[in-house]
Amino acid sequence: MRLKVVLLGEGRVGKTSILLRYVRDEFAEKQQSTLQASYLDKRISVGATNAQLSVWDTAGQERFHALGPIYYRDADGALLVYDITDAESFSKVQKWIKELRKIVGTEITIVIAGNKVDLERNRQVDEAQVFEYCKSVGAKHFYTSAKQNVGLSECFNDLAKNMVEK
Ligand code: GTP
Repeated sequence: MRLKVVLLGEGRVGKTSILLRYVRDEFAEKQQSTLQASYLDKRISVGATNAQLSVWDTAGQERFHALGPIYYRDADGALLVYDITDAESFSKVQKWIKELRKIVGTEITIVIAGNKVDLERNRQVDEAQVFEYCKSVGAKHFYTSAKQNVGLSECFNDLAKNMVEK
């Protein structure tokens, strides 16, 4: 079973880093901004089902926003990423979810990741507000750190499980 997942979120929140850590167990402190979307495959088992996830990394900078539908239109799941040290990046997640619901409805499985939890001391996004929002849109939330390899397998396992069950 082949499943397509798209990583969405503001520039610099850590989408490329999440992908590289999850698929190749690599991390770069000076990861460059993505200018062109690309994907990596990862095999994953969900119970007795073997799935191949094609995880698409997209460019987060605002000037690329209009390209979004090209990548999410036929996706089975979306991982919406924000940076816990950047309040604006969480507002951007809310904007993405509105857009996804409008264009692809509830067909697509959505999971939200609060990345860079290794920088907890610089947190700018209020946790209670995040949890309330996630509940209101029925999306699961995970804390992740691509840098320290925290929460990523949990996050993708959950996404895969929901996509397989759909
Ligand atoms: P765009 O390509 O512009 O959309 O950015 P992106 O969302 O793909 O972010 P990227 O992975 O390029 O990471 C941006 C910066 O944040 C890089 O310098 C990364 O090293 C850093 N970074 C990514 N994840 C983490 C993390 O979990 N913790 C910390 N401390 N830094 C991180």
